Amino acid sequence: MDIKSEIDLDKLPRHIAVIMDGNGRWAKQHGRPRVFGHKNGVRAVRETTEAAAELGIEYLTLYAFSTENWNRPKLEVSALMTLLVETLHQELATLLKNDIRLKAIGAIEQLPTATYKTLLEGIERTKTNKRMTLNLALNYSGKWDILQATRAIAEKVNKGEIKPEGIDDALFASHLSTGQVPDPELLIRTSGESRISNFLLWQMAYTELYFTPVFWPDFGKEHLYKAIVEYQQRERRFGKTSDQLVP
Ligand code: IPE
Ligand code: IPE
Ligand code: MG
Repeated sequence: MDIKSEIDLDKLPRHIAVIMDGNGRWAKQHGRPRVFGHKNGVRAVRETTEAAAELGIEYLTLYAFSTENWNRPKLEVSALMTLLVETLHQELATLLKNDIRLKAIGAIEQLPTATYKTLLEGIERTKTNKRMTLNLALNYSGKWDILQATRAIAEKVNKGEIKPEGIDDALFASHLSTGQVPDPELLIRTSGESRISNFLLWQMAYTELYFTPVFWPDFGKEHLYKAIVEYQQRERRFGKTSDQLVP
């Protein structure tokens, strides 16, 4: 039986987050420079986005560049930024055709001007699209997100708009960069690494984690389907006992 038909369409995750990892090792395997891996990672982004939209996933958040990734060699960082501009230009028509809304989380105003402008343009041009939101995490880290939310809340407390005792889970979450977006039910990380690497820390408190050895440039639709099938086989208990869960 093909893996796609094993997916229960009534139990799809609303939000899938992905740590796209392994481009460098994939390139090394092919005897090529790291940037070659990043370039080939674009195909995986396209396939994953298409597959998620076709299934009816509402939000797909892709970790594209972390706050810590600035510490990479200068040439690699600038190649990644250029690739982002090129890819956004190239893929805009497809996003429009497929009714996909582009969004971004992270300190994006700190990106190089050309990258920032292209990103804003993509966000603006797709803002009325409805089928799926493709959310790019760029210059993003989970700690940064928690800090910026804390600062925004502290300012409101200062102005008397919020009382300290009024800060609850929902209020805090609404100040995170993900705003009203539901927490991801499923996180996929490629390349065999089993860590979170400062991704959506608050939002992943109860996310199902799925790790695959596949390097990101090799990731395709079938891999996404497999991850969803495994997710659907998990029992999400949220602190309760198994018996307490209604089937
Ligand atoms: C993921 O692949 C892409 C980014 C982090 C931008 P890597 O570049 O981290 O690839 P590896 O982990 O070195 O193989
Ligand atoms: C995480 O990958 C960040 C992105 C995929 C953008 P890294 O390759 O930077 O993670 P670590 O440093 O190995 O944990
Ligand atoms: Mg990596």
